[in-house]
Amino acid sequence: MPFPDTRMRRTRASRFARDLARETRLSPADLILPAFVLEDEKGREAVESMPGVERVGRNGLFELAERCLAAGIPAMALFPVVPAERKSTDAAEAWREDGLVPETVKALKARFPELGVITDVALDPYTSHGLDGIVDADGYVLNDRTVDALVRQAMSHAEAGADVVAPSDMMDGRIGAIREQLEADGHVNTLILSYAAKYASSYYGPFRDAVGSAGNLGKSGKESFQMDPGNSDEALREVELDLEEGADWVMIKPALPYLDIIRRVHETFGVPTFAYHVSGEYAMLKAAAERGWLDNDKVLLETLTSIRRAGASGILTYAALEAASLLKG
Ligand code: PBG
Repeated sequence: MPFPDTRMRRTRASRFARDLARETRLSPADLILPAFVLEDEKGREAVESMPGVERVGRNGLFELAERCLAAGIPAMALFPVVPAERKSTDAAEAWREDGLVPETVKALKARFPELGVITDVALDPYTSHGLDGIVDADGYVLNDRTVDALVRQAMSHAEAGADVVAPSDMMDGRIGAIREQLEADGHVNTLILSYAAKYASSYYGPFRDAVGSAGNLGKSGKESFQMDPGNSDEALREVELDLEEGADWVMIKPALPYLDIIRRVHETFGVPTFAYHVSGEYAMLKAAAERGWLDNDKVLLETLTSIRRAGASGILTYAALEAASLLKG
């Protein structure tokens, strides 16, 4: 009787052999938990389109931080929920030294010095129109004026003690401008995680609900600054520019629909490449799981593992705590 020359199934036949042969591992140390922060200390509000995710005030945030550290999750990324009355066309609230983000960073770092704190550098939570910059009369986001504002915003975060500033706006030249000012101000060890290849994606819908920018945004899209989903070479160019300007780490966003980009960036540049498993990716899984159409736990771990396999060194995911507890179990 003929037999196969090679039996691939031999290495899959037992659990111990599968474990030993596994190429990609997922651990809580690969994960970053994004958090939506409210001004009200005791605040706690569910985000309807993101089951299991809450907007939290200082108290809730401390609880999340404690749970992250206990679970082995090394860092959190903060996203402010700014009340409508503090939004404006010039986004001045974004760089107020005693604004929500700097104050939250100070409090978090004082209480949890070992937790990595990443701040979002972008104007969209602070603009009355919900776009990521200062606009002209036609609603076009002005690049260079926006960069000036981003520099001020990033400095207010660094000054407060943020470990990593993460520009997520896609303006040209902002990484160089922020790096130069960080150096000038003596913040030589503040990391820059650049959202280098951020696509004009419709997977951000639930996030915009969470921070309250969806309604303000109305019909205007972000295509004039975020990347076209059809492009891949352009992502390499974006990453190259940001690295030249002084980014330490780069981010690809969203994750699952852009695994090919993660792989190309990681292979081409060999720098720490992060991926953002965004709100819509999270919401899709939760919705299907709620209906009993997908196994939440298994699909979650498979998804995060595939993002790692593509080349991501770290993953921002709203399911970080959930994944960490599954990995432990
Ligand atoms: C905006 C920003 C967005 C996200 C993070 N920062 C949305 C946008 O570009 O409109 C989306 C994250 C998510 O969907 O989870 N600076």
